[in-house]
Amino acid sequence: MANVGARKLNPTPVAIVGAGPAGLLLSHLLHLEGVESIVLEVRTREEIEGTIRAGVLEQGTVDLLKQIGAGERLAREGFVHHGIELRFALRGHRIDLTELTGGKAITVYAQHEVIKDLVKARLDAGGSIVFEAKNVTVHDLETDAPKVRYEKDGAPHELACDFIAGCDGFHGVCRSSIPEALRTEYLRSYPFGWFGILTQAPPSSHELIYSLHDRGFALVSTRSPTIQRLYFQCDPHDRVEAWSDDRIWRELRTRLETLEGWEPKEGPVMQKGIIAMRSFVCEPMQHGRLFLAGDAAHIVPPTGAKGLNLAVADVRVLARALVERYHNGSDAALRAYSATALRRIWKAQRFSWWMTSMLHQFPDNNRYQKRLQLAELDYVTTSRAAATALAENYVGLPFDG
Ligand code: FAD
Ligand code: DHB
Repeated sequence: MANVGARKLNPTPVAIVGAGPAGLLLSHLLHLEGVESIVLEVRTREEIEGTIRAGVLEQGTVDLLKQIGAGERLAREGFVHHGIELRFALRGHRIDLTELTGGKAITVYAQHEVIKDLVKARLDAGGSIVFEAKNVTVHDLETDAPKVRYEKDGAPHELACDFIAGCDGFHGVCRSSIPEALRTEYLRSYPFGWFGILTQAPPSSHELIYSLHDRGFALVSTRSPTIQRLYFQCDPHDRVEAWSDDRIWRELRTRLETLEGWEPKEGPVMQKGIIAMRSFVCEPMQHGRLFLAGDAAHIVPPTGAKGLNLAVADVRVLARALVERYHNGSDAALRAYSATALRRIWKAQRFSWWMTSMLHQFPDNNRYQKRLQLAELDYVTTSRAAATALAENYVGLPFDG
């Protein structure tokens, strides 16, 4: 890393690319410790506050959002769940998350609501978010005077800073600014996607249901007493228009069926989309004065609900390291950032890959592998040790460890 010893502070110590959960949270965590930043976001505020994505917050994510004053609406409107159901061979099996983890739980609260809360927290505190910042590029990363260039309303801008946080998601520009020879990328693609819907209906279940059926995976989640979120495994190249409401509900009814004749509560489908599934990690997550966090550095398949929570864990480590640099002049934690974050990231990669492998139909699986999947599910729902391993990962591993 370039020398990060004491020098005159830039007016903008930290430039953050991307106003997703990672970028916004990092900016707020730094602000609370007296370190200012500017967030550059290519989209509009309305777009980032309206994009439907994840919905499950780990206990540690919830605690952190409350601690920094961005958790008031979450505490009021989020749904605390103490268990999940694993459904296979036409039967449901409850995993008691709270009992198995000594009191922890997950909260169902939509990602775009977290974004609204964080944008509000930043703006209320006088923070700077530049929306519609176009053609962002990062420069001089290997010097102690990095820069970010961008265009706003057609005019070019250059931002001098001490550090750049690349929080610009999987398709952003920051990761590819690290020379190819200096990064290693690990990738696994899955031969299926998730078809996700929002429907206007009452909840079908008071806890999430993860189901494996001969026709593939299905998931029942929720958003509010009147809006529900459901997913089912699909061909990643399928077309959304090929799925009428009738066809969607027929598929969900089939994949969620039980011996007792369970059926989801149906309603009009308000929104539908197909989500690609991949596992990806870029190492290291740092180059000179550029630090990557969240989806910019890694992706998990959504089965373990880890994507958003991992982004939160990364920026918690990064914020602490930057604060240590500004408060004590020590860059030890910054130098360790990538290695520290990657330990937790690889465990979440393992968990997300495992949940995905256990709960989906793989086109290449033979009869033997299908029986192994059922044995895995049988084990996890009957062994306290196995259920505990699932539960502690699902509610979130400790931030430091
Ligand atoms: P992002 O949320 O991607 O934020 C990055 C931000 O950077 C965006 O606002 C983007 O506009 C901005 N940006 C990008 N490029 C530039 C640029 N060049 N200049 C400036 N700004 C830029 N996870 C789950 O756990 N469960 C789910 O059900 C789930 N569903 C998902 C559905 C979809 C369609 C997608 C894409 C992801 C889903 N995820 C899910 C993953 C989860 O949403 C992400 O892990 C999480 O958003 C990561 O946060 P982030 O801040 O790192 O990145
Ligand atoms: C949701 C998404 C997930 O990836 C998951 O595992 C559980 C719930 C959701 O969007 O509600």
